[in-house]
Amino acid sequence: MTLPTREQAQRLMQEAERLNPGPWVRHSWYVAEAACAIAQRHPALEPESAWIMGFLHDIGRRAGKTAMRHTLDGYAFLMEQGFNTAARLCITHVFPIKDLQAVACQWDCSAEEMAFLEAFLAGIEFDLYDRLIQLCDAIALPTGFCLMEKRLMDVALRHGVNDRSIERWQAFLGIQQAFEADLGCSIYMLLPGVVENTFGFESSVLPRVE
Ligand SMILES: [Fe+2]
Repeated sequence: MTLPTREQAQRLMQEAERLNPGPWVRHSWYVAEAACAIAQRHPALEPESAWIMGFLHDIGRRAGKTAMRHTLDGYAFLMEQGFNTAARLCITHVFPIKDLQAVACQWDCSAEEMAFLEAFLAGIEFDLYDRLIQLCDAIALPTGFCLMEKRLMDVALRHGVNDRSIERWQAFLGIQQAFEADLGCSIYMLLPGVVENTFGFESSVLPRVE
């Protein structure tokens, strides 16, 4: 694997945040933490690598306020640095379904760039890390971990839905189920604060049942 160290990844993200500050940076941190927590329990995943891949998956946002081209911008940036494995995740994380037309928002790429993405996807098989970051992207808000269904609705409310939305949501739920079968537990048992972050209040304010 060609990945930066955690310290190098943190420096890259500090620079990216200076270039384009926003909630995407906190979201990226929670994706990293979720990936690491799940990898710690998974027999075939390495937690530190998972953390770094999760942290950098959206680094294409350093280029400014873009839609789907953040995938290509992140890929190009990390390839330039020689971090090929991390670069791959910048593209694969948006494809729970391996189809350019089945994504959550608009493609703002040229015809050549779209052809590159098409060929890139055709040339790879998704591995466990691709699936892990797809999963973690779908359970991390900028405020913390949340129920997947909440995050999917958050994206739908911001970007709208299209005729592939139901298929995408089913794919995300399928990825979750596959990981839970490997882990032998709910992913939510591994992620602190899901209840508070999903439902928007501290559990301590609930009335006590005597
Ligand atoms: Fe993301």
